Amino acid sequence: MENKNIRERTERTRWFCDARFGMFIHWGLYSIPARGEWVRSVERIRHEDYLEYFREFTAEEYDPKEWARIAKKAGMKYAVLTAKHHDGFCLWDTKLTDFKSTNTPARRDLVREYLEAFRAEGIKAGLYFSIIDWRHPDFPHYGDRQHPLRDDPAEKNAARDFNRYLDFMHGQIRELLTDYGKLDIMWYDFSYADMKGAKWRAQELIEMVRSLQPHLIVDNRLEGSGEESGTILTANPSDFAGDFACPEQMIPPKGIKNELGDSVPWEACITLNNHWGYAAADKHWKSAEMVVRMIVECVSKNGNLLLNVGPDAKGRIPAASVDILEEVGRWMARNGESIYGCGISAYEKPEWGRFTQKGKKLYAHILEAQAGGICLPNLAGKIEKLRLLSDGSEIKNARHWNLAEYPEHAFFFLNQESFDNYPLPDPKDTVVEISLK
Ligand code: GLC
Repeated sequence: MENKNIRERTERTRWFCDARFGMFIHWGLYSIPARGEWVRSVERIRHEDYLEYFREFTAEEYDPKEWARIAKKAGMKYAVLTAKHHDGFCLWDTKLTDFKSTNTPARRDLVREYLEAFRAEGIKAGLYFSIIDWRHPDFPHYGDRQHPLRDDPAEKNAARDFNRYLDFMHGQIRELLTDYGKLDIMWYDFSYADMKGAKWRAQELIEMVRSLQPHLIVDNRLEGSGEESGTILTANPSDFAGDFACPEQMIPPKGIKNELGDSVPWEACITLNNHWGYAAADKHWKSAEMVVRMIVECVSKNGNLLLNVGPDAKGRIPAASVDILEEVGRWMARNGESIYGCGISAYEKPEWGRFTQKGKKLYAHILEAQAGGICLPNLAGKIEKLRLLSDGSEIKNARHWNLAEYPEHAFFFLNQESFDNYPLPDPKDTVVEISLK
């Protein structure tokens, strides 16, 4: 008998497993120091010093409609914005703390505007919510693994009431699930050491989430993190194991399956440079080709890519990120059929690239030019037709004289005159649609 949580998770994540490509957005006060979202922890910045950024946060260039246009042009089908990161700064008009965007010079409910803008573009909209809160007085300080004041003996925890913190944390999640319409994703971050599961009162929390927004999908970090996924990897996941796993800054070698070999929904969350939050000095951008190939690799392993942008202090997505996303969008516009609704293929990964599949449509993603025919291993006699996906042009199933000794395999040439396969029509990834019999 299939586990109830797996059965329900499968239903809830159908749209997610079709969407395949999403935008992660890390934005907040840390965009002003511009040294990444962990700046308070790394530099051990005291709260009163961090308030300098609170007092100058204007969000003067914040235009979520533009963000949504950028995401749509890139071919992204969902988005996740940090409603609150570890620093505790809230981008919505929460009633439970003054440390919020509506009390800064911005004076705006940034979450509400984001949700409205992305929904208007037909993009599913989710929120990231940090279950860690370095600002809250009842969250452990001294001796914690990463709190900014973890080394300060004056910040001992005896007077801190962790349950009071949990009431606050659950209360904020209730606000977001009650006052902001139908959310699509709640992305919790993150559990560590003994701070996991029951410690967060996760059972009570997930029951609230499921009662307020039963369709909502949640990640696995009430139990896990980027280091360990928790019981979502098992055939008997807990009620708060989450609906999808979220490997971080890597793509799982074989995708993610439980011990029965059943696929677990997952998304790899990856940055465009090396920071989640805006880092002005970090110009180490991934190329559009690398992004395309990350998307294809994820889908070929039954997963999604959640690709991050880190808007600057004023609310602008960095121009370099926009340029990359526009180039990715041009590829997605021509080849998206090989991504959306596709997943892992039963056919073994070929030498020259990867396969994605959707029913009888098998997509060959050719990443390396080949001498001689492109080989489709053991597919002889199983193919109805071949088309270059980007322009629909016919590609002939080749029975060239130099392939006669390999009757079990099918072959084709991308250059039908010169019987070869270089240069590739699209060096990022040339996609051939294979209609199977
Ligand atoms: C890690 C980082 C956090 C980031 C998250 C994104 O948990 O600590 O800053 O938001 O990854 O996956």
